[in-house]
Amino acid sequence: GDVAVLVPAAGRGERLGPGLPKALRELAGSPLLVHAVRRLAQADCVGHVVVAVPAGAVDSVSALLTPVLAGTGVGLGLVVGGAERQQSVALALAAVPGGYPIILVHDAARAFAPPELVDRVAAAVRAGSDAVIPVLPVVDTIKQVDPDGAVTGTVDRSVLRAVQTPQGFRRTVLAAAHAVDTDGGATDDAGLVERLGGRVTTVPGAESALKITRPFDLQVAALLVDP
Ligand code: CTP
Ligand code: MG
Repeated sequence: GDVAVLVPAAGRGERLGPGLPKALRELAGSPLLVHAVRRLAQADCVGHVVVAVPAGAVDSVSALLTPVLAGTGVGLGLVVGGAERQQSVALALAAVPGGYPIILVHDAARAFAPPELVDRVAAAVRAGSDAVIPVLPVVDTIKQVDPDGAVTGTVDRSVLRAVQTPQGFRRTVLAAAHAVDTDGGATDDAGLVERLGGRVTTVPGAESALKITRPFDLQVAALLVDP
């Protein structure tokens, strides 16, 4: 495949509660990062994966992922992540070899994103989009509130979308966005492209690409483990 995937996996997972860094917590006997990379390698488009890992975890993650990728033809790079997600992505981007014109960025915490979603995002970049994000309609009614929690308005949810990963980019576009913006505050990479005035397009997301954030999400994800 001509696609490299950056996998930010260096977060602590504070909202999941005390324990190992989130990407290294196990579900059905495998760390979330293993579930995530296994699915990435199942996507036809993927040729290389660079994971941003917690400090001190390079050797243990290498031992975890090398057998997952053995025989798949998918290359592996590992970097130590930064203090913020955006910095972890920038560090991983700097470790991508030449020859990958399309870059995807995929949260380790979305460990059960299906391979078809990965290929769908990459295909949209290949078809000409500079930046592509998978999205789902918002199902809840959304209200604005004041600092006391009193409702000040109801937002029109028909124009809103919940955003997932993998997000896909022409490599030059993602590199330019990260080069201009290094303050670390962006919660997704498409946001950096938007700040530069770039055009971001959408493809349908997948419910199984949920971000494992709180303990309840881990219970949901347990339903998605391969039998
Ligand atoms: N991430 C990262 N480097 C950081 C912070 C986050 O690589 N400095 C990664 C996480 O490992 C995760 C993804 O970015 O795969 C999305 O972040 P989030 O879901 O917020 O994970 P955590 O930051 O680990 O969780 P929390 O915010 O609850 O501590
Ligand atoms: Mg976080």
